[in-house]
Amino acid sequence: MNILGIETSCDETAAAVVEDGRRILASAISSQIKLHAPYFGVVPELASRAHVTLLNAVIEACLKKIGSPHRLDAIAVTVGPGLVGSLLVGKMTAQTLGWAWNRPVFGVNHIEGHLLSPILLEKDLRPPFLGLVVSGGHTELILAKKWGVYYRIGRTRDDAAGEAFDKVAKLMNLGYPGGPIIDALAKKGDPSRFSFPRPWLPHSWDFSFSGLKTAVLYRLRGKNRWSMAEKQHICAGFQQAVVDVLVGKTLAAARAVELNRIVVGGGVAANSLLRKEFMEKANRLGIQVLLSPLSLCTDNAAMIAAAAYFKLKTHPSSAFRSLRVRSQSPFPPTPGPLPGVPLPSDLF
Ligand code: KG4
Ligand code: ZN
Repeated sequence: MNILGIETSCDETAAAVVEDGRRILASAISSQIKLHAPYFGVVPELASRAHVTLLNAVIEACLKKIGSPHRLDAIAVTVGPGLVGSLLVGKMTAQTLGWAWNRPVFGVNHIEGHLLSPILLEKDLRPPFLGLVVSGGHTELILAKKWGVYYRIGRTRDDAAGEAFDKVAKLMNLGYPGGPIIDALAKKGDPSRFSFPRPWLPHSWDFSFSGLKTAVLYRLRGKNRWSMAEKQHICAGFQQAVVDVLVGKTLAAARAVELNRIVVGGGVAANSLLRKEFMEKANRLGIQVLLSPLSLCTDNAAMIAAAAYFKLKTHPSSAFRSLRVRSQSPFPPTPGPLPGVPLPSDLF
């Protein structure tokens, strides 16, 4: 089954064609980073206008690659969570194409796309598994019981992990998006030179990153001018604190819910330290970690087409025929109580 995926939830305009949920036949992404960089964040009005301008071209690039729209069986479009104006551009385009080509159109949850992005390369991966989705808008710990049956174990109470990277980069005037810049600078810094707090939230599986961001702000206020070497140390210290919490808490959760398979997706999953520490620490605990391939960490449409395919396989198509766009669409919380959160010292 060939599905055309369309993704316009934030600042990437993307289309892709995926065969049977695993094989990418075509993929095109047009990034709006340059448009939003002067503002150090995504400007919703500019994003929707840019999607209108860019979407036809990315869809056409995919159609050219596969030869003809007749090879498509269905269309999947992100309907949330995201910027409503931007989501509407994707939804209207998908509906128009579905009508013109006489193909069904399905609405997909963006988080589900990130959650399932590692499966595009892993032929044998199937639920149950624990998922960590870490992006500019989300930090979610998810229990994937079956295809399409996902429960939220924890989420950020304030800033998303990627948002914290972006805001800390802005504080140091480093540019946007902050994640890749901090990742690169941290490689030249010493993470122990400036120590930052690890927001562990010991009685909950939730995360919190705004205090850590404020700790960086207070540290920066201590002095007027910071050399590039000092900024590199700050980047390294901040990144280490974020990674310690994300990796420590996700591994602890896997142990608590007795799952030995973790998948990690979203823009922050591209972070080199996060990838290294997940592999090393999970290995020590005998837990398998599947990281989204770098090309699929940030927003793309292949993950949307794949998510639609796996949901269609196990759910009647009517279950996600709704194309109502939503700025928020969280997974339901886990039914029943969750085990307590151990301290990191109990784990490593
Ligand atoms: O998944 P994504 O493209 O968009 C959302 O759904 O939010 O993620 C973008 C986020 C940005 O906050 C960006 O700074 C972060 O992912 N990011 C990174 C890295 N690459 C992208 N964060 C840390 N390290 C990276 N290498
Ligand atoms: Zn995303």
